[in-house]
Amino acid sequence: MPKARTKNGSRGARQGALTGTMGVALLGTKFMGRAHSIAWANAPKFFDLPLQIDKAWVAGRSDADTHEFGRRWGWRASTIDWREAIVHPAVQLVDVATPNHVHREMALAALDANRHVACEKPLAGTIKDAREMRDAARRAAKRGVRTFVWFNYRRAPAVALAHALVAQGRIGRVFHIRAAYLQDWGGASTPLVWRFQGNVAGSGAHGDLNAHIIDMARFITGEEVTEVVGALEETFIKERAVVGEAKGRRAKIMGTSTVDDCVLFLARMSGGAVASFESTRLATGNKNRNCIEINGERGAIRFNFERMNELEFWDDTVAPELRGWTTILCTDSAHAYAQNYWPAGHLIGYEHGFISQAADITRVLGGAAAEIAIPDFEDAWKTQCVLEAAIRSARRRRPIAISEVE
Ligand SMILES: NC(=O)c1ccc[n+]([C@@H]2O[C@H](COP(=O)([O-])OP(=O)(O)OC[C@H]3O[C@@H](n4cnc5c(N)ncnc54)[C@H](O)[C@@H]3O)[C@@H](O)[C@H]2O)c1
Repeated sequence: MPKARTKNGSRGARQGALTGTMGVALLGTKFMGRAHSIAWANAPKFFDLPLQIDKAWVAGRSDADTHEFGRRWGWRASTIDWREAIVHPAVQLVDVATPNHVHREMALAALDANRHVACEKPLAGTIKDAREMRDAARRAAKRGVRTFVWFNYRRAPAVALAHALVAQGRIGRVFHIRAAYLQDWGGASTPLVWRFQGNVAGSGAHGDLNAHIIDMARFITGEEVTEVVGALEETFIKERAVVGEAKGRRAKIMGTSTVDDCVLFLARMSGGAVASFESTRLATGNKNRNCIEINGERGAIRFNFERMNELEFWDDTVAPELRGWTTILCTDSAHAYAQNYWPAGHLIGYEHGFISQAADITRVLGGAAAEIAIPDFEDAWKTQCVLEAAIRSARRRRPIAISEVE
């Protein structure tokens, strides 16, 4: 793979839709780097898109690893200087898949260079960073520069169906939202990776997992959180082995975890519903149980990502003797995105949410409509405000209105 030369990109504003080819610069080469690489590679295979996708640049931290990643995952050029990649003239979209503390710096530099930005969630590790990103996105939007955030679970066809059912009034007025994102990988044997470092991650399970279910609750119901009524934050495992120091030593060097292991909170919604949110990395027995149940006056819906192809629906308007949970396999061509993948009953997986989001981003930048609305920085800011309100509520032990943190 040849290394592209560094050139300063055009700083002229890009008004209107892109045409021809959209060059992508991916920042980050690990978990999300892989998921996004698959997405950019496969979106044009499954979807008819208005733009060609050029996987132009990938930026990582180690020269050899980044070069090897680029070769293996099909990027044309690699660098350990992300600034080199974002200003290259071949690049129109910067894809930020790095830890939370660098989202702000990378996104602002990209927007400043008039690159569209697709940033991983949470928008940022801190409310201060998120506000700066929102403000920069507002300024950039006036120059025709777009922002997107990878809240990929919106693009599970079952979640899209839940959204449609609520919008059609099939469950009526929403009374309850019960959302939980439960994982169990955060036990005492897990070392002090960046996800346990407050100065890098911002928070623990909260920003990592609650961000997703806040976004899902907002998306499915169309309601906004107006107040966090009470919250609880706990760090069960306070010391963890320092990464790189643990290997080959009898006495591990331990460091302090500076994030939550779990955050639970109660909230009020703009439409009158009440909601509970729980995120944890210590829910033994749950791997990636991202689940939500919504109860309304005419029916209810339930989703669990561990069975991501299914949506459960309760129709309370049918005769009482016929009422019961219906499990809908969301692989029919009538379901969002499904006709782009496989015949009915042939299941999709984790990566398809990213492929569908890459397709939707490409559609938007090519002047077409996304199949399912993509959160931009403005939208992700609302989720960030809820995260912030919940943490303040836990620490101050009092209700926090969203208007206090906006
Ligand atoms: N949408 C989702 O479902 C989902 C899932 C997992 C992670 N994420 C988010 O994606 C982001 C990345 O998480 P991940 O799991 O891929 O992390 P990771 O640790 O697997 O990968 C992080 C990458 O960023 C690079 N990096 C780290 N610090 C850097 C720096 N200062 N400058 C340049 N590059 C740097 C690393 O070299 C690595 O390639 C986070 O914001 C995380 O919250 C989202």
